[in-house]
Amino acid sequence: KSLYGVIGSPIAHSMSPLIHNDAFLQKGVDAYYHAFHVDPEELETAVAGMRALGVNGFNVTIPHKEAIIPLLDRVEDAALQIGAVNTVVNRNGELIGYNTDGRGFVEALKEVVKLKDKHVLIIGAGGAARAIFYTLALEEGVQIDICNRTVSKAEDLIKEFSLERIARSITVDQAAREIQRYDVVVQTTSVGMHPKINDIPLPLKSIKHHAVFSDIIYNPIETKLLQEAKSIGAITQNGIHMFAYQAALAFEIWTGKFPDTVRMKKLVEEHLG
Ligand code: ATR
Repeated sequence: KSLYGVIGSPIAHSMSPLIHNDAFLQKGVDAYYHAFHVDPEELETAVAGMRALGVNGFNVTIPHKEAIIPLLDRVEDAALQIGAVNTVVNRNGELIGYNTDGRGFVEALKEVVKLKDKHVLIIGAGGAARAIFYTLALEEGVQIDICNRTVSKAEDLIKEFSLERIARSITVDQAAREIQRYDVVVQTTSVGMHPKINDIPLPLKSIKHHAVFSDIIYNPIETKLLQEAKSIGAITQNGIHMFAYQAALAFEIWTGKFPDTVRMKKLVEEHLG
């Protein structure tokens, strides 16, 4: 049996074992996936343990996505640029890091909208926004406005990737006033996450006809932002979609097989619902 897992803290409520173990069964891969609680001061020892035990691959979650980079033998360029690794594969003793968060988000988004010539608003400029911005702007060439409570963080993000040509930073107030300009709105902040389920990152009055609202939060399954957007005509997508795709892409890196994302989403929905 091959062994896979996820390291993080907290980790007890991770749904990754559920979907990966099911995908192993579905795809006929003789493997097992386990959630390992690893505190920051144990990260280095944990990675050494993964090596010593010959673990075949693992996911990396909060708070280790940045700190693990110098502990790996090689990191793919996109993950280096994003500055975060969420997937590690052990190839003949060499630990190689990848980031499937940004690509996972974009693959999920493409299920509901064609991105060509669309105007995108990203709400937030933290770690999750970074991976999504990198992939949407640099790999897909999409025009993006970023709004964030702390505007300077959005400005820094754009400058760091030298994307002033296709991206600009705006205030949350400005984004709220001009919300009807956007075809796609991507919510990446923690606003609206359990237990503060009634919080909303910006007020919605009018929106563009057939606008797509995608929120990376999956607990609650439908944030207040998505509920309000839906009630005024938006097509909405919750965070389960990105979660399933980032997992599916990690699974593909490990096994060469692409799992059934519809099944993954259903399992997560059942678990949360
Ligand atoms: P993650 O890795 O999940 O993206 P993060 O890097 O801490 O987490 O980023 C959190 C994001 O949520 C940031 O955009 C943050 O805004 P600031 O940069 O201004 O801190 C945003 N955020 C968190 N709490 C918020 C709140 N109460 N109101 C508005 N934005 C908030």
